[in-house]
Amino acid sequence: MLGLGIFENKDPKQCVDSVLTAFECGYRHIDTAEGYQNEDSLGDAIQASKLDRDELFATTKAMLPPYCKLDTRSVVEKSLRLLKLDKIDLYLVHWPMRQGTEEAYNTLLQLKEEGKIRSVGVSNFTSDRFQQQFFRNVDTVPSVNQIERHPFARQQGTVDYCIEKGIQIVAYSPLARSQSLGHPTLSEIASSYSRTPAQIVLRWHLQHGVAIIPKSTNPARIAENAQLYDFQLDESSMQAIDALNREDRVIKWRPEENWF
Ligand code: A2P
Repeated sequence: MLGLGIFENKDPKQCVDSVLTAFECGYRHIDTAEGYQNEDSLGDAIQASKLDRDELFATTKAMLPPYCKLDTRSVVEKSLRLLKLDKIDLYLVHWPMRQGTEEAYNTLLQLKEEGKIRSVGVSNFTSDRFQQQFFRNVDTVPSVNQIERHPFARQQGTVDYCIEKGIQIVAYSPLARSQSLGHPTLSEIASSYSRTPAQIVLRWHLQHGVAIIPKSTNPARIAENAQLYDFQLDESSMQAIDALNREDRVIKWRPEENWF
């Protein structure tokens, strides 16, 4: 339920250090992507950590054909090589595409059968996209839908749809890239629990059953973001955070509409 996001953490030393700090703080799930250009650094950190393979949970994802030059199998094999793993715990279709999404997803399922992937999921899917296209072509329910979600963009329609289908939601940018943290409601709740606004927001996600992958390269903040299991938000605090929603996502880009 708690992972470290390493988006934009491209400096190899900084990336390895962040992941090793996270392991020391008890994180076992790390989220990368082909496009983040740091799968090899994550692989280096995993090797340096000496943690048992069974303890680790590595997620990666990629743009798949026809929107990349390699075929899906080669994209996954490249990730395995860079991560220096013989199996990827969770592999996601990074963005829905106008064409080819379901074919790519089915190839990932085949790779799962072959033992190269443990679980297959998607990212950036809305409930409409699932209903209007995906489930008309695919029978196997994805394990995960990773979406941007935070107090300013709850995407509740998609979350409810995924819960009903048994698809685990993973929130990326769970802190709205830190933009949420100065909000007076969150500061007030944070001081009433003697916690930081980041811990309040992350705990709010967990109590909604949403997994989280906050990104940080700062050791103190990596540690802070993992201190979530020794307090609980009451119903009125949960509702006050729910009420901050204005469906305002950080990422305005909608590739399916604008580009792919
Ligand atoms: P930094 O890497 O310097 O810690 P999100 O996960 O929502 O995308 O947010 C990531 C951003 O929030 C990064 O800029 C990160 O900066 C910052 N951040 C992460 N954790 C905290 C925290 N506990 N307090 C304040 N800012 C944080």
